[in-house]
Amino acid sequence: MTEERILKQENKGFYITTPIYYVNDVPHIGHAYTTVAADVLARYKRLCGEKVLFATGTDEHGKKIQRSAQQQGRTPRALADEVVRRFQDAWKLLDISYDDFIRTTEDRHAAVVHEMWNRMKAAGDIYEGVYEGWYCVPDESYWTEKELVNGACPVCGRDVEKVQEQGYFFKLSRYQQRLLEHIETHPDFILPASRRNEILSFVREGLKDLSITRAGFDWGIKVPDNPKLVIYVWLDALLNYLTVAGFSRDGERFKQFWPPSLHIVGKDIIKFHAVYWPAFLMSAGIPLPEHIVAHGWWTLGDVKMSKSLGNVVSPESLVSTYGTDATRYFLMREVPFGLDGNFSDTAVQTRINSDLANDLGNLLSRATGMVVRFAGGVLPAPDTADQFDTALQQQSAELSGAYDAAMNTIEFHAALTAVWEFIRGANRYVDQTKPWQDAKAGNTQRLNTRLYHTIEATRIAAIYLIPFMPGTARTILAAVSQETKGLGLKQLAAWGGSAPGVSIAQAQPLFEKKTDALKAGANAGSSAAEPRQPAGRKKGTDGQGPAQSAAKPAQPPMMTPIISIDQFKTVELKVGTILSAQKVEGSSKLIKLEVDIGEKRTIVAGIGKSYAPEDLPGKRIVVVANLQPAELFGIQSQGMLLAAGDPEHLGLLTVDRDAANGTRIK
Ligand code: MSP
Repeated sequence: MTEERILKQENKGFYITTPIYYVNDVPHIGHAYTTVAADVLARYKRLCGEKVLFATGTDEHGKKIQRSAQQQGRTPRALADEVVRRFQDAWKLLDISYDDFIRTTEDRHAAVVHEMWNRMKAAGDIYEGVYEGWYCVPDESYWTEKELVNGACPVCGRDVEKVQEQGYFFKLSRYQQRLLEHIETHPDFILPASRRNEILSFVREGLKDLSITRAGFDWGIKVPDNPKLVIYVWLDALLNYLTVAGFSRDGERFKQFWPPSLHIVGKDIIKFHAVYWPAFLMSAGIPLPEHIVAHGWWTLGDVKMSKSLGNVVSPESLVSTYGTDATRYFLMREVPFGLDGNFSDTAVQTRINSDLANDLGNLLSRATGMVVRFAGGVLPAPDTADQFDTALQQQSAELSGAYDAAMNTIEFHAALTAVWEFIRGANRYVDQTKPWQDAKAGNTQRLNTRLYHTIEATRIAAIYLIPFMPGTARTILAAVSQETKGLGLKQLAAWGGSAPGVSIAQAQPLFEKKTDALKAGANAGSSAAEPRQPAGRKKGTDGQGPAQSAAKPAQPPMMTPIISIDQFKTVELKVGTILSAQKVEGSSKLIKLEVDIGEKRTIVAGIGKSYAPEDLPGKRIVVVANLQPAELFGIQSQGMLLAAGDPEHLGLLTVDRDAANGTRIK
């Protein structure tokens, strides 16, 4: 990510955070990606003997959450409680070793938010005023008219709402110069460089004061002395990093861990972290985080994965199909951190088959198998080393430097590439030295040296895999009868750590090869909620239904694996009749339909550019009846109708013979 070693060894503890996740959305691999990355670094730092505070959590306040809860007929609290469990379960499945899980609805957090409000106010940075402009509820962000793209949110492409409210502002403009200086004098403050440049030009263009309250709803932390207003959810959320560190509550923890060593965030939320957050801290006189690192997006068919687009792959389904460690490995190995990556099951399977089952699995299997076959299952002591043995040792010494360099510059894929070069080198060592020939010829000393070296290389590879694949590393270390005994990375990875004389049995295969396409359940997100709309930067990504995908013919096709008849049968297509239709207020293309498909359903369809509402009642249509309900413009859409063509000339799919409403299409 940068040539410099950015994560320095210090006496201060290593404090690493993920963003806190909104609770209107169940976890998907976008969330898992950040969390696994943070977990890998946390485990690496612990292995290096550092004191680590690794925090994740949930962002539970705000209009978006309140609205989602309302639409589901539940309280925001009930929604949050359920989704929080989903996140915690997902992190358990992915073996995430967080030290603290913060929920913004906790009392410890409200206290910090109030304390910070008071500090920023005492600094003269909070004043009353009227906010007039636009607001994107899904992103919880303010926009000026000029910033909108085709009248929609410039980040997510969704519709924005006009807002005019009396409230409070933060004097962000006051920090423009100091922020610029900080970014300019700390080249590693924002990473990678592309994001740093983006933020530099944003700040140079001029910072406007920021509205930091919202009116008209109550799901948030109240403004001290003005409980009719709630504190802007991004101010509330960013302060979670202080709460976790024990700010104004636990002086010792705060001293040990503040400032944060590293905030890992997605590129879409870099502005909040690299502009607003440091300005809040400057106002309150608190030191700034050391590094903010933005990663890219996971896409499916080159469209950003997100729940609202319905094209998500859930961590649960990935883990149930591929296992925890293969999932972790894939996420960290496949895409250089910072760049976007396209998810496909073939990519996962290729990694599993070639890197995990072949290279790593093979090494363990032959290393243990040879000890069983040629040494009665007892690890022999090595004898004098020849050039093959010393070359392997030399390779392990080189790996140490390459691995540390990559980890400290947050280049996970490079760290893993280095480990795999070593693993492949160890396999080559066996191929070239052919220990079975020494066994046959009775060259016991040479044979023993080969057996020891092969086991030792396998053990060392496992040590380097601890941060990435903790379960697999444990399995390998158990198979070669070695423990980590609380030692640090340097000692553990030093050559010669395997103790001769231990018993070794033939190891079971570590990974099963996968050649099938993702099973239906493995892609629950995308099969349950068909990819609907690309993450456009333009208006018009506001709806559900065929008009959305048709609206963006330039988008590359979504991933279309061959499916089995059983998979097809999971889609419930039914014949229906449109009973009534009306335009959705505020949208140019959405129409709200009441449809009879054997039962009455409300469907919001993006067909408004091809059909006038009055032409629709009585039309026979085909509906996806078991699509996960989605909320569009505050209306719950309970299915999707099928249509073909470009957005202005869509044709509805229909049946050309009589079929009763509700008839299942086969
Ligand atoms: N609640 C805010 C963060 C507040 S932090 C003080 C938020 N939450 S989020 O749930 O919408 O997103 C959290 C993180 O997930 C972001 O860093 C975002 O970039 C990341 N991802 C969401 N979808 C993603 C992909 N498809 N790919 C990779 N990461 C993406 O924003």
